[in-house]
Amino acid sequence: MTAAFPLAADAPEIILAPFSPDHLTGALRLSREAGWPHRAVDWDLTLSVSKGVVAVQGGEVVGTALCSLFGEVAAINMIIVDARMRGRGLGRKLMQAVLEIGGTRELRLTATADGLPLYEKLGFEATGEIFQHQGIAKATAPELPVQVAAKVDATALAAMDRAASGLDRAGLLATIAERGELLRAERGFALLREFGRGKVLGPVVAQDAETARALLAAGATRCAGEFLRVDLTDAALAPHAESLGLGHAGGGTAMKKAARAATDSEYTTYALTSQALG
Ligand SMILES: CC(C)(COP(=O)(O)OP(=O)(O)OC[C@H]1O[C@@H](n2cnc3c(N)ncnc32)[C@H](O)[C@@H]1OP(=O)(O)O)[C@@H](O)C(=O)NCCC(=O)NCCS
Repeated sequence: MTAAFPLAADAPEIILAPFSPDHLTGALRLSREAGWPHRAVDWDLTLSVSKGVVAVQGGEVVGTALCSLFGEVAAINMIIVDARMRGRGLGRKLMQAVLEIGGTRELRLTATADGLPLYEKLGFEATGEIFQHQGIAKATAPELPVQVAAKVDATALAAMDRAASGLDRAGLLATIAERGELLRAERGFALLREFGRGKVLGPVVAQDAETARALLAAGATRCAGEFLRVDLTDAALAPHAESLGLGHAGGGTAMKKAARAATDSEYTTYALTSQALG
């Protein structure tokens, strides 16, 4: 795909092109300038499960958009337009390109305040709030037993995650578990990995809030004294996160387009893998 469109008579034209590894450095510049904590390896992890598009002007990356493909569901993410180029229709062009990649799948995203009006115009509907909590983690005894798993049972994790989220992402979870740590409780699991300014705990998938609280406490204990982030889907867990040293630090609006009918499940996603990956 290559689409060109001029924005100003004297400016080099802007080309939309498929995201390739050559664009990573420019993409990282954009996410840093937007105040996002992603490192190159964090972009890489998302790219490993995504197809994407960049806007390039005179050899410089001025916009990015990714579509992560998880079976019947796709997550739209890393939508960024260079601050100097906003308000001229580039965000909408990038979104249209990734919506085409998503095709007939259910589409999900976590919207910032900047992105919300654009997504509403494109037919996305709010389905909930995401509560970002982060800080220096405090060791706290979990209410229920939680083990750091010596071996990753990738099939079982993928099945629990799929039941909770509807996403088919066995490969992604196995990669995260290999790079980080798997915390297992009797009725759920959580993954702990390096991300951004420190570590992130997610997804947290459990049958009940008590198990989710135990997984959060075990994650905080595992990296006590280090920077830890968690993106909660349920405000009821916020006081617990605060008690673990993880203060409220913003969040986003969970949105869907072309949503499939939800099915009942014994598992719930209490914290996201990341705002990008759902
Ligand atoms: C969100 C972002 C990508 C939008 O890019 P952009 O190039 O400025 O977007 P566009 O110019 O294509 O505008 C898109 C539409 O949203 C509308 N819009 C944008 N901001 C708006 C606002 N505050 N209120 C109402 N409408 C707004 C525009 O009017 C436009 O509508 P139109 O296409 O019907 O005319 C850009 O602001 C950005 O990079 N923000 C920082 C990173 C970020 O938060 N990304 C979103 C992650 S979820």
